[in-house]
Amino acid sequence: MENLTTKYLGLTLKSPLIISSSRLTSTIGQLKEAEDNGAGAVVLKSLFEEQINYHIHSISSSHGYPEADDYLSNYIHANSVESYLELIRKAKKNLSIPVIPSINCYTSRGWTGFAKNMAEAGADALEINVFFMPTDRKKSSAYSEKLYLELIENLKKSVKIPLVLKIGFRFSNILFMIDQFYNRGIEGVVMFNRFYEPDIDINKMEVIPAEIFSQENERRYVLRWIGMASAQDIKIDISASTGVHSGQDAIKYLLAGADTVQVCSVLYNKGIPFIKTMNQQISDWMASKKFKNIDDFRGKLNYLNYEKPTVFERTQFMKYFSSFE
Ligand SMILES: Cc1cc2nc3c(=O)[nH]c(=O)nc-3n(C[C@H](O)[C@H](O)[C@H](O)COP(=O)(O)O)c2cc1C
Repeated sequence: MENLTTKYLGLTLKSPLIISSSRLTSTIGQLKEAEDNGAGAVVLKSLFEEQINYHIHSISSSHGYPEADDYLSNYIHANSVESYLELIRKAKKNLSIPVIPSINCYTSRGWTGFAKNMAEAGADALEINVFFMPTDRKKSSAYSEKLYLELIENLKKSVKIPLVLKIGFRFSNILFMIDQFYNRGIEGVVMFNRFYEPDIDINKMEVIPAEIFSQENERRYVLRWIGMASAQDIKIDISASTGVHSGQDAIKYLLAGADTVQVCSVLYNKGIPFIKTMNQQISDWMASKKFKNIDDFRGKLNYLNYEKPTVFERTQFMKYFSSFE
């Protein structure tokens, strides 16, 4: 096996493959299985701000005593948070690979105290899964962008461990936003989250969830921006996410400049031990190309290093349209 060691957020990982946040990283058994099969790190399932609020509301509406509502809200809040902190503590006790908890948030205030508790429970870094859904047509994109910056400023006041933002790609200028995150002390970005999306069942006449798991061809939305973000003159770490179904897929993101590569859907389909196969695929490819270390090829085909960088800029199929006509 070639040397797959890599650096991420100042941590040393024995593989660039990270199991991304989902139910696959919610028990000690799964986390141990991830480590035993060669995962470089694990991102725990997210603690959802929404989920906690939902529980509080559903119980609150079942009776009419405000004091009891307060008591129950506090109880549920404390217990959701406490069981999550316990998962972090146990993971740190049982694993030697980095453990990165995750918070899913939809407001920039109120919950930043959780983050401090997670750091105290032993988290090596913290991933913030963040998306402010723009549903109000009277609010500009500048308003939404400001929420991200407020969130970072609030978090940075209470958390000292490395912070990673897991973002979506729907920004007017992603590179500008990454620059803003970096300038405010964010150590890493996950590019990109893959959101829950609606679909329509035309027979049942219902709105249903779209496909939950990714396809390999979804990488096409991500590769361009990793190739361009990794070529900037700022040192923010990049973790690739979406559409990695094999070691070969991971290599593409590393060549585009990612520091690490997160994996989720394929492990739902093939099981956590598939990480071992993916590490082997990366190693075999490195041997075939005579690369000894990940740094020997990381970013080799990004916007800065590739001889024809304009391929990252092209968005229109001009050449193909003309050849099809
Ligand atoms: C069933 C399922 C649950 C997920 N839960 C979370 C979550 O709790 N927090 C989070 O940040 N991402 C969550 N994700 C997103 C994944 O971590 C990942 O970013 C996304 O699936 C894209 O990676 P993939 O193409 O390897 O699946 C979830 C994905 C799936 C399929």
